[in-house]
Amino acid sequence: MGAYFTHLESPWDGTRHDFRVPQTTHAGRPLVARYDLERIAKEVERDSTYYNAGCLWSFRDLLPVLDDANIVSFGELATPTLQLSRLGNELGLENLFLKDESRLPTGSFKSRGMSVAISKAKELGITRIAVPTAGNAGGALAAYAARAGIEAWVFMPSDTPEVNKLECELVGARVVEVEGLISDCGALLREGQKVFGWFDLSTLREPYRLEGKKTMGLELAQHFGWRFPEVVLYPTGGGTGLIGIWKAYEELCGIGWLEDRRAPRLYSCQSDGCAPIARAFERGERTAEPWVGAQTLASGLRVPSAIGDFLMLDAIRASGGEALGVREASILRWMRRVGELEGVAICPETAVCFEALVRLVAAGKIARDEEIVIFNTGAAHKYVEALRAVDRPPSPRVRPGESVDWRALSAGFERAAIG
Ligand SMILES: Cc1ncc(COP(=O)(O)O)c(C=O)c1O
Repeated sequence: MGAYFTHLESPWDGTRHDFRVPQTTHAGRPLVARYDLERIAKEVERDSTYYNAGCLWSFRDLLPVLDDANIVSFGELATPTLQLSRLGNELGLENLFLKDESRLPTGSFKSRGMSVAISKAKELGITRIAVPTAGNAGGALAAYAARAGIEAWVFMPSDTPEVNKLECELVGARVVEVEGLISDCGALLREGQKVFGWFDLSTLREPYRLEGKKTMGLELAQHFGWRFPEVVLYPTGGGTGLIGIWKAYEELCGIGWLEDRRAPRLYSCQSDGCAPIARAFERGERTAEPWVGAQTLASGLRVPSAIGDFLMLDAIRASGGEALGVREASILRWMRRVGELEGVAICPETAVCFEALVRLVAAGKIARDEEIVIFNTGAAHKYVEALRAVDRPPSPRVRPGESVDWRALSAGFERAAIG
């Protein structure tokens, strides 16, 4: 494996960089992995049982780890693409799907990036790593690092969902709570780095987390019979998910594995409490000005500035999609509505995509018969604070042996039902 990984490249200025040593950024911009796509086309069979094994590492020819022995994995199975028929009916949409990333180890899509990045860190002999996180990336990094025997430091805002902190501590990561935003966490990490020399695994400051995220796009195309659905809505913070899906599309085009080369229209969804990418998109800018006063319940989207902003904006524009910031106040309502109609516990980040979807359909930008895929990037169960805040019926408490007024009890549920 890894036989097709040829070099690292700066998409900003096209320079090539050596992958045999740990790399971070070039000219302050991300580096990305490149592969010999022509050789893959000649030598690798797309429909082999190997490719159909249904897990992240079955795409290893398109991943950068050179030696299988370095793979750090919990068994990252392909996530299901669920049709949302009841919600689709309600919204008048014929082909609405949810790709449920909450099934992955540590409960979010972040495990894809961390499985590849930690494997690569192991391969490069790195023994200490650190990350600033909005929550889920920290949990994933901590778990994979523990499995690899790598020391992990996690910097998170002090108001990160509590489960994220607890899950890191449980697996032995050193958690530093920062009274600020993820950007403050990054600045503190770089200060400590001067003392400890840990390797910085911040989003897009090293090239391999992106490769793991790319497998979301590879899997998506595979699920749709080696083509992409017409529309993808993705909750965007640092941007690796969205950029990864686009990279998958470009590489699959390069190899020639797609039955239909039509690009998915990518919609980057943010909360209006922190929407730097949406604002830059509207203004026609290639990079995004930092967002001042970032505030949203969707902690993964509380990213005031992203080093990969230009990659996101390029991909959104090239795909024919757009970036939009939607009402923060809609988040809890969508969590409950999707839960009630489909039984799926979506994270607050994904709730933003449903509000965006309704807006885009109303504006005629998404047609009712198009294939639409929304990514549920994380498990709602990790957001106990948000779950408590969801408007829901109070659960009556009864004592065995006491008489129960069943009609009054039932009426309580009915009063609280949402329309
Ligand atoms: C659940 C969830 N969704 C979405 C995101 C945004 O991720 P990306 O960096 O791909 O934009 C995050 C990031 O923390 C997250 O935890």
